[in-house]
Amino acid sequence: MNHAVVLGTQWGDEGKGKIVDFLARQKRFTSVVRYQGGNNAGHTVVVGGERFAFHLLPSGILYKQKTCVIGNGVIVDPKVLNFEIRRLEKRVGKKHARILISEKCHLIMPWHQIIDGIIGGKLGTTQRGIGPCYTDVNARRGIRFMDAKSKKVFGLRVKEELAWNKKLIGLAYGQPKLARRLNEAKIVTSYWRWINLLKANRRVEIDDCSEWLNRRQAKGEGILFEGAQATLLDVAHGTYPFVTSSNATVGGLYTGTGFRPRQLSVVGVVKAYTTRVGTGPFPTELTDAVAERLREVGHEYGTTTGRPRRCGWLDATIVNYARKINGLDSVAVTKLDVLSGIEKLKVAVAYKVDGKTLNTFPVDVELLNQAKPVYRQVAGWEEDITRVRKFSQLPRAAREYIKLLEAASEVKVTMIGVGPNRNELIVR
Ligand code: GDP
Ligand code: IMO
Ligand code: MG
Repeated sequence: MNHAVVLGTQWGDEGKGKIVDFLARQKRFTSVVRYQGGNNAGHTVVVGGERFAFHLLPSGILYKQKTCVIGNGVIVDPKVLNFEIRRLEKRVGKKHARILISEKCHLIMPWHQIIDGIIGGKLGTTQRGIGPCYTDVNARRGIRFMDAKSKKVFGLRVKEELAWNKKLIGLAYGQPKLARRLNEAKIVTSYWRWINLLKANRRVEIDDCSEWLNRRQAKGEGILFEGAQATLLDVAHGTYPFVTSSNATVGGLYTGTGFRPRQLSVVGVVKAYTTRVGTGPFPTELTDAVAERLREVGHEYGTTTGRPRRCGWLDATIVNYARKINGLDSVAVTKLDVLSGIEKLKVAVAYKVDGKTLNTFPVDVELLNQAKPVYRQVAGWEEDITRVRKFSQLPRAAREYIKLLEAASEVKVTMIGVGPNRNELIVR
C-alpha cells in the first residue's frame, strides 16, 4: 500500500516515534505528517544510542531528504516549535527534513496555558494549554497562522481574544491576579517574533498542506502519518472525560490534514504492557514490585512532563477495541525486551461486571470502575532478547505471548521492538 499511518492503541507512549522513524527510512515515503495534538506529545527516537525527543516535529525529521508536515489539526505553540527546531539544529545543523506547517493550524496562546493550569489538574493534563486551545477551535474563536499575515490584523485578533479571556480567567475562574499577567503588547510582540522566526528559517514553510499532499499523491509518492496520543485518549472514543481534546484515532487524519489517502495501511502501536500518565481508570494497573520493575527497566517517565507513568499488565481487550475503531491492518509491539526476567505474565482477555463476562473493553468510565479484568496467565522468559532480529529466535514463551495477543485481539503483529534503538526491531 502506498500510504501508512502509525497510531497509538492504548493510553499513549507506546513507542510511536520509534516506529515512525523506522518506517520513514523507506524510499516510498517522501513525507511524514502529524495531524492532531500539540506539544502534549513526546515522541522518542534513538539513533546510534543518541536520543531525540520530539513534541511538535514529526518523527521523520532526522531524514534530510524528506518533508515533515504539521497538519491543520495540530495546535502549535510557536515558541515551543522554535525551541524544538533550534535544539535540533544545534545537534544536526540544517541536515533535517524540510518543515511544512499548515496555515490553518491554530495557535496555543498564553491564556490557554493559564486556563489549563486552573482546570487541567483533575484530569492530570500536560498543562500545555491543549484542552483550552481546542475549546477555542470549536467555539470558532481561535487564532490561526493565517491570521498572522499582517501585524495589524494579528494584533486585532489578540486584542479581541485577550479581552474575553481576561474576563474568563478573572471572573469565571476567579483568578484576577493571573488575568493581570496577560499583557497585550507583550503577547503581540513575542508571538509576532516567534512566527517570523519560523518564516525566516529556509527549511520551514507555512502554506496549504492539503494542496501539497494532494500533489504528492498525484505523483505516486507515499505519505507516512504519525498519530499523537492514542485510542483511549481520543476525545470521542477514549475513556472520556479522562482523554485529550483531539481525535487521536484514524479519523483525525482526514480532518487534520484535509487529505484523503487513496490506499492507507493502518499500523497500531502496542506496548507489550500498559502504561498511563495522568488520572483516569486503568483496570490492569499494578502497584507492586512488578510495576516498579516495569517503570525502572522500561524507563517509564513522561517524555514531555517527566511524570512517572502508571504501569500494568497488557490488556488485549484494549487492543481489540483499537483494532475496530481504527481498522488496524497490522500491529507493532514495542518494549517486549522489558518483560524479560518476569516469571509469570498476565494478559487481560475479558472483563467481569456484576458477575457477567464482557468480552469487550468497557469504555464507559462508570462501568470501567466496577469492571474486573479476567486474566490469562502465561510463563515469562529469562533471556535478554535485545539482540534478537528474527521471530523464530525469540524464546518460546515470548513467541507464545505475542501469539496470545494476536489471538485475543484479532490482530497481526508484524513488528516487535526489542530495544529503544532504531534497529532494535524484529520485522516479520
Ligand atoms: P511515543 O509517545 O508513543 O512516541 O512513545 P514515547 O517516546 O513517549 O515512549 C516510548 C519509550 O520507549 C521511549 O523512551 C522509547 O525510546 C522507548 N522504546 C520504544 N520502543 C522500545 C523497545 O522496543 N524497547 C525498549 N526498551 N524501549 C523502547
Ligand atoms: P504521546 O503522543 C501519554 C494525557 C495526559 C492527560 C490527558 C489529557 O507522547 O503518546 P492534555 O494535556 O492532552 O489535555 O492531557 O492526556 N496525554 C498523554 N499521555 N502520551 C501522550 O502523548 C499524551 N498526551 C496527553 O497525561 O492524562
Ligand atoms: Mg510519548
